[in-house]
Amino acid sequence: MIDRVKEMKKYKPVNEKVEMMLHGADYFPEQWLDYPEVLDEDIRLMKLAECNVMSVGMFAWSKLEPKEGVFTFEWLDNILNKFADNGIYTFLATPSGARPAWMSEKYPEVLRVAENRVRNLHGARHNHCFTSPIYREKTAIINKKLADRYAHHPAVIGWHVSNEYGGECHCDYCQEAFRNWLREKYKSLDSLNEAWWTTFWSHTYTSWSQIESPTPHGESMVHGLNLDWKRFVTDQTIDFYQHEIKPLKQENPNLPAFTNFMDLFEGLDYAKFAKELDFVSWDSYPTWHIEGDDSDLAAYIAMNHDWFRSLKGGKPFLLMESTPSMTNWQNVSKLKRPGMHYLSSLQAVAHGSDSVQYFQWRKSRGSSEKFHGAVIDHVGHENTRVFKEVQRLGEALSCLKDVVGTTVNAEVAIIFDNQNRWAVKDAQGPRNIDIGYEKTVTEHYKAFWDQGIPVDVIDMESDLSKYKIVVAPMLYMIREGVGQNIEKFVEKGGTLVSTYWSGIVDENDLVYTGGFPGPLRKTLGIWSEEIDGLHDGQMNKIEMINQNPLGLKGDYVAHELCDLIHLEGAETLAYYKKDFYTGYPALTLNHYGAGKAYYIASRNKRPFLTEFYTEMVNESGVKRVLGKLPHGVTAQCRTDGIHDYVYVFNFSKDAKMIALKDTVYIDLLSETTVPENIELPSLGVRVLRRKSRC
Ligand code: GLA
Ligand code: GLA
Repeated sequence: MIDRVKEMKKYKPVNEKVEMMLHGADYFPEQWLDYPEVLDEDIRLMKLAECNVMSVGMFAWSKLEPKEGVFTFEWLDNILNKFADNGIYTFLATPSGARPAWMSEKYPEVLRVAENRVRNLHGARHNHCFTSPIYREKTAIINKKLADRYAHHPAVIGWHVSNEYGGECHCDYCQEAFRNWLREKYKSLDSLNEAWWTTFWSHTYTSWSQIESPTPHGESMVHGLNLDWKRFVTDQTIDFYQHEIKPLKQENPNLPAFTNFMDLFEGLDYAKFAKELDFVSWDSYPTWHIEGDDSDLAAYIAMNHDWFRSLKGGKPFLLMESTPSMTNWQNVSKLKRPGMHYLSSLQAVAHGSDSVQYFQWRKSRGSSEKFHGAVIDHVGHENTRVFKEVQRLGEALSCLKDVVGTTVNAEVAIIFDNQNRWAVKDAQGPRNIDIGYEKTVTEHYKAFWDQGIPVDVIDMESDLSKYKIVVAPMLYMIREGVGQNIEKFVEKGGTLVSTYWSGIVDENDLVYTGGFPGPLRKTLGIWSEEIDGLHDGQMNKIEMINQNPLGLKGDYVAHELCDLIHLEGAETLAYYKKDFYTGYPALTLNHYGAGKAYYIASRNKRPFLTEFYTEMVNESGVKRVLGKLPHGVTAQCRTDGIHDYVYVFNFSKDAKMIALKDTVYIDLLSETTVPENIELPSLGVRVLRRKSRC
């Protein structure tokens, strides 16, 4: 275990010009150029709401280059100069997320080709080919013009590159690029055929030109092909991103560049993409207030925040978009109840965000986002409930200057790995209704959230040495070297928790022969012989053995997946009570080296994971931010090694009492000492400072 606090320093802010929490929105002045009074009023309102940053220009290509080779930057000069005069900063966007109609008309190759090999028509956004030489050329020209003009502008603090990269193109350029990517990776067709197990159904390729991207009306059953295509799409997207930032960085290498990510986005391997970004940012759109108690959703969002922080090893991220009120694209668009905006925004900060930003500043008058929530509604003034909530948050953020650059010192890591996710979902196996990977990871995460325990959410190749507990749910794919890493972690004293459907395939999606869970078999001390899929509504039961080391008692309900395992050194903590595998081990513990490795063989209903992790945390010495917490309440902590910034949230319907007896707590927003017991109303939040021990 490395003592992370000792080596901890504060991270630098996103841009040293602004050493404070950022607060702002996506802003589309190009929609209002015929209404100059609106733009002036916006500046007044931005200052009133304590906003200090706006993202500008992300879909403005047709205003920047109305005709091919004709550029109009005066409107943007005007707005950026006004920002500079008024202390408002800008993330200046490159416009590649949407393109002008003249471009699609003259160069149809810039448009995407779908899986069915039909080229899209012009329209919508995110509708471009990443490989098209013309699209790359046009992007390079506009980005260079933006860099020449604005890379040293006093208002500009970073490049917002494109918007929410995603999707894939199946055009001839992309097919050729894919084949080249495969040639580079496999060198010979023989090794590709072997890695993809192509003798199955006579799939063997005898020439590179026979290989095509997966498609429903052609090949979609070769798992190695599917997996490599997804990896290629990630690499090609990253390549396009690098192409976009080249002219930007050439002009000013110190101006940070980033793009915005999305919650649990599946299409790209963000673990790889994040390495190319100066910092991570993401767009968060939960639908609160569905079932009254928001704690499950709050834990899901918390897990996303932790993932985005962990993608860059703990570096603070930015909440690039969120809605100040409602979305307009979910089935039902719930309003955020009073207090929820404040609560959910500070939740992002608690997990490592150095900003709270919105989509959007002002509602547009027309087209598909005209009813999407905004700081400024169609009424046009500040006398609205939403504006007041935003203003209240702005005031709070201005008190959190010291939190900027601090991080989270997690002793627990959960492995959430996108390549594993692609593979486990592609496989046809014990439950094709929904194998439940994301659900499982979220359920394990929630058990720590309930206890107010900080967690890193990492991919399988991350460094494990700084953690006390590593949870690896459904680690179906285990890439080369990962099994040994996990083994070393346990040997040296770490605690591992793994589950059913782990250690099944390698990085090519080829099954490990010789017994599951493959490279984890020795560490876990078990052999998994078979796995039973249960129908919806079907149950099994597991019973804890008397005097098990965790002190758990009684029965738990198992459903959906039950692994049939044999002991190979591990001890049984619980066994199945129903079906022909009655008496088989259902939960095991293996002492390995100086550490411990638990195997949860069945998917168990609540409260199994909460009770299991509560006992495990007690015995492993992992620290909770505060003591025991009531239902729906969590505590999170950011630290610089000197002070801890403790955030307590109540996502439940009822007021809850919280004990703060262990040390002196100062309320950061009022700089007053906090009593030993505080009442948190429903949707209440407190931000506290104490001497560091996180
Ligand atoms: C059919 C096919 C076999 C195999 C089985 C699987 O019967 O003929 O090749 O795919 O289904 O159940
Ligand atoms: C995404 C996009 C924004 C906007 C919002 C609406 O996050 O990046 O441009 O469309 O969704 O919620």
